[in-house]
Amino acid sequence: MKIKDFDGKNVYIVGGSSGIGLAAAEILSRRGSNVIIFARGRERLEAALERIDAAKKSDRQRFAFRQLDISKADDVEKVMGEAVEEFGAPDILINSAGRALPDYFENIGYEQLDASMKLHLYGNWNTIKALLPHLKQRKGYIVNVCSVLGFMGVFGYTDYAASKFALMGLTESLKSELKPCGVGISILCPPDTDTPGFEVENRNKPPETLAVSEGAGLMQPEEVAEVLIKGVEKGKFFIGPGSAKMIYRLKRYAPFLVDFVMDRDIRKVQAKKGNA
Ligand SMILES: NC(=O)c1ccc[n+]([C@@H]2O[C@H](COP(=O)([O-])OP(=O)(O)OC[C@H]3O[C@@H](n4cnc5c(N)ncnc54)[C@H](OP(=O)(O)O)[C@@H]3O)[C@@H](O)[C@H]2O)c1
Repeated sequence: MKIKDFDGKNVYIVGGSSGIGLAAAEILSRRGSNVIIFARGRERLEAALERIDAAKKSDRQRFAFRQLDISKADDVEKVMGEAVEEFGAPDILINSAGRALPDYFENIGYEQLDASMKLHLYGNWNTIKALLPHLKQRKGYIVNVCSVLGFMGVFGYTDYAASKFALMGLTESLKSELKPCGVGISILCPPDTDTPGFEVENRNKPPETLAVSEGAGLMQPEEVAEVLIKGVEKGKFFIGPGSAKMIYRLKRYAPFLVDFVMDRDIRKVQAKKGNA
């Protein structure tokens, strides 16, 4: 299952008001799609919609936004139902909402764990649940935006990685269920990407976490979104932009090497701290 032509397709982008979701929305607008974006904050949704509209290919295209917190199952059901009636059923659903607040395990409260699970697991579950009947009818496509931390645990990301691993499990299980229905599904695992969300993520990063992620480089959201779209065109399940593909292979075939490098970087930081 792949999508070759995005012209005239109805694309629902959750988390489309910022970062990777917004970059995907702009590319799809240039490719002729009708795009509806979902997020909580109205101001960013309005500003994003202007950018998406400015990128359009033709005046026939339609664009809209809806305010929505995907961690609230009842709201998702209601808002998605209205969106389908007013905007038309989706051909493509991109689940890009997410956030990371790295910290030492001892500093992460139950509330943060709960919020991460509600956003990355329950939230994506909710949007898929609400839209799957329509996606089945239209032989549509789902992209869940996960992370390198969806297949590799890293210092400082206990709640985030746990919730992204959960999203990986949900997506992999769905893959085989959706095959007979003609619905495609991909999981996008970006490495560090220069987005407003990443700026927030960096504010409180433990030095050990910084040291581990330093070597992996920083992508631009537009680059990640281009790889996402190419992955959908090819019908690839795992989409790993930039260094993510190599990290995935290393983690799978040489996990001892990954551990060795991470442990070494962490030891260096902790030795420095010990000397301070
Ligand atoms: N940037 C990176 O380095 C990186 C790396 C790997 C994976 N990722 C993943 O990529 C995805 C996009 O990240 P990004 O860096 O582009 O983030 P971003 O710039 O912060 O954008 C996140 C989007 O999600 C929305 N959102 C957050 N919580 C929501 C909720 N409860 N309900 C509905 N919408 C919500 C935000 O809008 P509101 O806040 O207004 O709701 C915003 O539109 C996330 O899933 C993230 O985990 C990012």
